[in-house]
Amino acid sequence: MSAPAREPVGVHSPGRASIAARTLRTDRWWQSPLLTALGLAVFVVYATVRSFVRTAYWVDEYHYLTPFYSPCISDSCVPGASHFGTWVGELPMWIPLGFLVLPFLLGFRLTCYYYRKAYYRSIWMAPPACAVAEPHGRYTGETRLPLIVQNAHRYFFYVALIVSLINSYDAVKAFHGGSGGFGVGLGSLIITVNVLLLWAYTLSCHSCRHVTGGRLKHFSAHPVRYWIWTKISLLNTRHMQLAWTTLGTLMITDFYIMLVASGTISDLRLIN
Ligand code: FES
Repeated sequence: MSAPAREPVGVHSPGRASIAARTLRTDRWWQSPLLTALGLAVFVVYATVRSFVRTAYWVDEYHYLTPFYSPCISDSCVPGASHFGTWVGELPMWIPLGFLVLPFLLGFRLTCYYYRKAYYRSIWMAPPACAVAEPHGRYTGETRLPLIVQNAHRYFFYVALIVSLINSYDAVKAFHGGSGGFGVGLGSLIITVNVLLLWAYTLSCHSCRHVTGGRLKHFSAHPVRYWIWTKISLLNTRHMQLAWTTLGTLMITDFYIMLVASGTISDLRLIN
């Protein structure tokens, strides 16, 4: 006995226009999702490799710590890199030294409203572009596992705020002179710019916008929250750009620290 024919779903559902071609678009609609997938892949590969190698992540002379290892709270961290002390013992090689916050940062980026759009189109193909049919037969949205986890974004946002404070502390520590005291090097500036942009990305989050000005019935009754909300809203219009820029500055910051820590180059010193 042959299996019953499956009900047509998705763009082939009853009532939809009967079009055999996947799309009638003739422009290069695939270019944007392709570039997005490549950009995300570069960051994921770089960050994964660097998070596990455990080399050249700390410059003791100038107190430069790469953001991929911050905070470093294990006995496995090199001396000086643990700005907040060591709370756990030695870690096996398969656990990154930045294990405390990396899962939350990953969660924050994965559930980000912009990144969702980016990887839904470029990787999930749901759909890859406007007027291009997706390959999936069904669409359940973010109402069940695993995508229902996307609704936890605001909680990742709260953790990201704490991580931004930790990164800020690392940036302050990076103004350290080679012979002690205050000093400024190119590394201090790169780390600081990265932290400022991370703050901009974090504060431009849609959840932040909601936290500051959401659920208010009358803005006039909450002038301070309204003022903050307008500033956050301005920043929010640049959220996509900040999402990409911070991926770049994270890699540049880590790469520079790696070069200095490994002795490949010397830090350009401006003061001391
Ligand atoms: Fe992108 Fe919150 S929406 S970080």
